[in-house]
Amino acid sequence: MPAETRDSMVPGLPSGDPGPDTLVLGIETSCDETAAACVRGGTEVLSSVVSSQVDLHARYGGVVPEVASRAHNELIIPVLAQSMVEAGVEGPDVDAVAATTGPGLIGALLVGVSAAKALALTWDVPFVSVNHLEAHLYAALLDEPDLEFPLLVLLVSGGHTMIVEMDGHGDYRLIGQTLDDAAGEAFDKVARFLGLGYPGGPAIDAAALNGDPAAIPFPRPMLNEGFDFSFSGLKTAVVNYVRENPDDSTEDIAASFQAAVVEVLVAKARRAAKASGAKALALGGGVAANSLLREQFLGACADDGIQGFLPSRAMCTDNAAMIASAGWYRLSGDGPSPLSTGANARDRMF
Ligand code: KG4
Ligand code: ZN
Repeated sequence: MPAETRDSMVPGLPSGDPGPDTLVLGIETSCDETAAACVRGGTEVLSSVVSSQVDLHARYGGVVPEVASRAHNELIIPVLAQSMVEAGVEGPDVDAVAATTGPGLIGALLVGVSAAKALALTWDVPFVSVNHLEAHLYAALLDEPDLEFPLLVLLVSGGHTMIVEMDGHGDYRLIGQTLDDAAGEAFDKVARFLGLGYPGGPAIDAAALNGDPAAIPFPRPMLNEGFDFSFSGLKTAVVNYVRENPDDSTEDIAASFQAAVVEVLVAKARRAAKASGAKALALGGGVAANSLLREQFLGACADDGIQGFLPSRAMCTDNAAMIASAGWYRLSGDGPSPLSTGANARDRMF
């Protein structure tokens, strides 16, 4: 079927714009989590089901794309069904279906996007394409839907590290980003080097609890230079240190590395908030689950007299509630997405 014919079949919402009762079914399959969620009115999470493939990928020390796609294929129907049962909703109750269309692993994305389009066509409701990074911004707003703009978000995940100014829904400005490794990537690589396993972030977080954060003065890359980040040199500093000091405590190394990453993240976010005159600062992305980052972030916000918003840990890492939420706002701003919108591994927010 030609794309124009398919797009002319895109249904709208029966009542026009989405409202507080509009129920969006969200689907997330961009990496190694198969997730589905039912969210009403953009913020009321009725269910959020996440099936992690961590055990499947752990033996390889990282995500294997082909293994991820196959697992999504097996899990997508049961995960979708569970999210609807937990929310107590049936097909006719769903007003729109939103899915992550990118960025992510192409084979993995395709599973969620195809499922979302099939359900939207079956139920005759809108399909909504959601950018995964935009959804991470919305995770912080799930508990605080009435935030005042401008809002600054420190988005720290496995693939991205950025400071984003949010001037309104769908209105974003990039303030700074990593020039090399993402913060989560640095956690994962250092953890693998230290033999702490995969995923590295939670492993370092746990090991650091028993270590001394001041034991080793690792560098704080670009601490006083602008709003961009760089973590690859810090990772190399850890590797070199361990090679020269093989008997040092792994817990001290983990704690000292974590302290360096967190100090840079918090310092830049609070400086960006001051410079932009933002009314609030929020955290998002998997690394936002980090204990030290959460503690120091809230401490910095309190010291600076600025509102600080932390998503719950479950909403930091990949989930579909943030997709359904961002989908609701996207539906308000742009309406349904054409069914010709495909999965895009390199989809950009800016
Ligand atoms: O947002 P996310 O679930 O997936 C991406 O979009 O990338 O983030 C995953 C990243 C991984 O690098 C993981 O190691 C990191 O978040 N992470 C953590 C913690 N929990 C997850 N990093 C530090 N401390 C944690 N507690
Ligand atoms: Zn993510």
